[in-house]
Amino acid sequence: MNFGRIIDYKVCENKIFIQFETMTGQIEIITDTIINVFAGFSSQKHCSKAIEGNKNIDTTFSVREVKKEADKIEAIVIATSAVIVRVYDNFKVNFYSTDGRVLCRDFCGERSILKKESSYKREMLKAEGHKTDEENQYRFYVLKQMEGDEAFYGLGDKVGFINKRGYDYVMWNTDNPRVHTEHDKSLYKSIPFFITLRKDVVFGLFYDNPYRCAFDMGKESDQYYSYGVAGGNLDYYLIAGDSMAEIVGGYTYLTGTTPLPQIWTLGYHQSRWGYMTETEVRTIAEKMRSYEIPCDVLHLDIEYMDQYKVFTWNQERYQNAEKMLSDLAADGFKVVTIIDPGVKAEEGYSVYDEGVKNNFFVRTPEGTLYKNVVWPGEAVYPDFGNKEARDWWAGNHRFLLDKGVRGIWNDMNEPAGFSGPIPMDVVFSDEEEITDHVRMHNVYGHNMARAAYQGLKEGDGKRPFVISRACYAGTQKYSTTWTGDNHSIWMHLQMAIPQLCSLGLSGMSFAGTDVGGFGSDCTKELLCRWVQLGSFSPLFRNHSVMGSRFQEPWQFDEETVHIYRKAVQFRYHLIPYYYDLLFTGEKTGFPVMRPLVFHYEKDPEARNCNSEFLVGEHLLAAPVVNQGERRKLVYLPEGIWYDYETGERLEGCQWIVKEVPLENCPVYVKAGTILPVWPQMNYVGEKSANKVLYLEVFPGEGSYEHYLDNGENFEYQLGAYNQYCCKLMRDGSLIIHCAHHGYDKDYEQVEVSFSGKNFKSDFNEGVCVMQLS
Ligand code: GLC
Repeated sequence: MNFGRIIDYKVCENKIFIQFETMTGQIEIITDTIINVFAGFSSQKHCSKAIEGNKNIDTTFSVREVKKEADKIEAIVIATSAVIVRVYDNFKVNFYSTDGRVLCRDFCGERSILKKESSYKREMLKAEGHKTDEENQYRFYVLKQMEGDEAFYGLGDKVGFINKRGYDYVMWNTDNPRVHTEHDKSLYKSIPFFITLRKDVVFGLFYDNPYRCAFDMGKESDQYYSYGVAGGNLDYYLIAGDSMAEIVGGYTYLTGTTPLPQIWTLGYHQSRWGYMTETEVRTIAEKMRSYEIPCDVLHLDIEYMDQYKVFTWNQERYQNAEKMLSDLAADGFKVVTIIDPGVKAEEGYSVYDEGVKNNFFVRTPEGTLYKNVVWPGEAVYPDFGNKEARDWWAGNHRFLLDKGVRGIWNDMNEPAGFSGPIPMDVVFSDEEEITDHVRMHNVYGHNMARAAYQGLKEGDGKRPFVISRACYAGTQKYSTTWTGDNHSIWMHLQMAIPQLCSLGLSGMSFAGTDVGGFGSDCTKELLCRWVQLGSFSPLFRNHSVMGSRFQEPWQFDEETVHIYRKAVQFRYHLIPYYYDLLFTGEKTGFPVMRPLVFHYEKDPEARNCNSEFLVGEHLLAAPVVNQGERRKLVYLPEGIWYDYETGERLEGCQWIVKEVPLENCPVYVKAGTILPVWPQMNYVGEKSANKVLYLEVFPGEGSYEHYLDNGENFEYQLGAYNQYCCKLMRDGSLIIHCAHHGYDKDYEQVEVSFSGKNFKSDFNEGVCVMQLS
């Protein structure tokens, strides 16, 4: 896009409109640290699906022009207290910190397109009408100057490693049934946000445009990194800050944070495609209890439906759904059911009939219903961009809630179709506007999850538990996610760490992989190692495909059951810690699973660390992800760390060799950590966790905030929670006081374990003081 020379500018509230020869460009000051760059190629305003509400904060800023010659503006310079923006001809925009460091500059050179064919072959392909390279694939590009030492993080759930430098990706929600490899450009989600980290600089770029787009992170050239998009506006945010955490904070300030879930969702989930009958489901539940493997959630895949028709129940296979669900509930199990978007095209089926009558399904350009094939056979697709269709879909969840269902699993919502991709010109709504599939594709799953969230919230008033496979930026407000159809292969276990950490940096904190792998047959060793890793991911679900080897731990041997139980029990032990992380995460946007670089960005060892991660700030997990590995190299960042299993004290900033027999997963705890824990239970709520506050404390100095509420509804937003501030002094004294008291089920006692010893004390008017050494 050629904007031409700067002619003039004008300031209007928080926006600076810059008149170029051919177009107007706009810089918008959102906050001191968040700046939006906009050019209305297809509409004059933002049309965000990710950002809800007005995010502008009253910010003081200055604007001046720099002139070289009397009649020629060389640059417009805009400054907040944190960022200086310089805008040049052709809408080239450079960002600097106020202390003069270069943050991000537009690239001013020529693109050097990555050539993959000889010039002869290229000419031949061109003559035959093929596109030979990336050159003209996208409507416009933004090229940023590579300063040299960049590492890149984020971009949602892309394959490969944590640092995306040198790779290229495409944002186009894709159901890829093949084995996902490092080579794949796109998966189920499109989150056009990444963080650039240099030696002394960190910032984020969020390209808020759902059209198909491509990111080249320095593969094409080491001179620049680029973004190319197929349509819509130039609409991106530069997010500045002093640390990676502040950048994630800025991004989630814009797109929303992961809300606090119901606490049982943090328990263990057992799933398979599919548990075919009521008897099978009841048997799984019984086995979980008889093997004493804690479990809170059972998932029902497509078989629970009548002929795969959404919002129906198969009464032949599950004779009495209400009774089954209430019996399971009495034993602590919650049931989550799958809901796909494809509605069986069958007259007489009420969901289909109602949708047709109200024009809630997408249509061909000729105006007929668009049909594709999914699980129920020929099916139609709800038009989730239409608010009325979303409201109707939301209301349909009543049917499942009335049966006792506690959560919804949205699948196939890229949207997928077995008879080929949905043509680009199929007619979709974008709220009031009529548009096409090209524009709505990447937000289809997002809008579906939003409808499910609404349906659950209106239905039972609890914090909705939705899982969605397809997502866009901001879906975290409505839904959790999993990484889709992985396989029972070691490569996918290895990939799980960078993939989940990248999702966390991209706002999606509540995520998980199919533990054990979905496709292919799992081995004993792989399952043991996967459950150890999976026990740290917020969404902790074992799931596998029909026709593969059964993947419940007792399908292997006694040792597997023992190892599996140990990992799941450790997860349950730490549930209060995860819950605290999600509570603070709702305020800060910080993920539960964090790559080491999140807290140690100055440490070069942390930048490319793919085989370990932090859980919050205090735990470091280094699960084994290689077959046969019995010794693992673990990197400990700066500070003092304690080996959780042995208690050994270790200096940071070093690699250590850790013995890793099959039953052990290395975990380290930072000095001065205060960890809230639970006594063992088979499911969340089996034993009251409210009388005694159990803490594990590690020598050092530290502080911690622990959170308590009813774990279920939205009363916490009105203040119905307690918050306990814990402070550990160097001399071993621990002081706990209740800093916020709004929940009546209060702790009466504190029990602390510290350096192998136990301590007990009562709360006295909300305060407890203990001497641990
Ligand atoms: C898709 C989902 C998978 C599910 C299957 C059947 O492949 O990703 O999790 O089991 O469909 O519904």
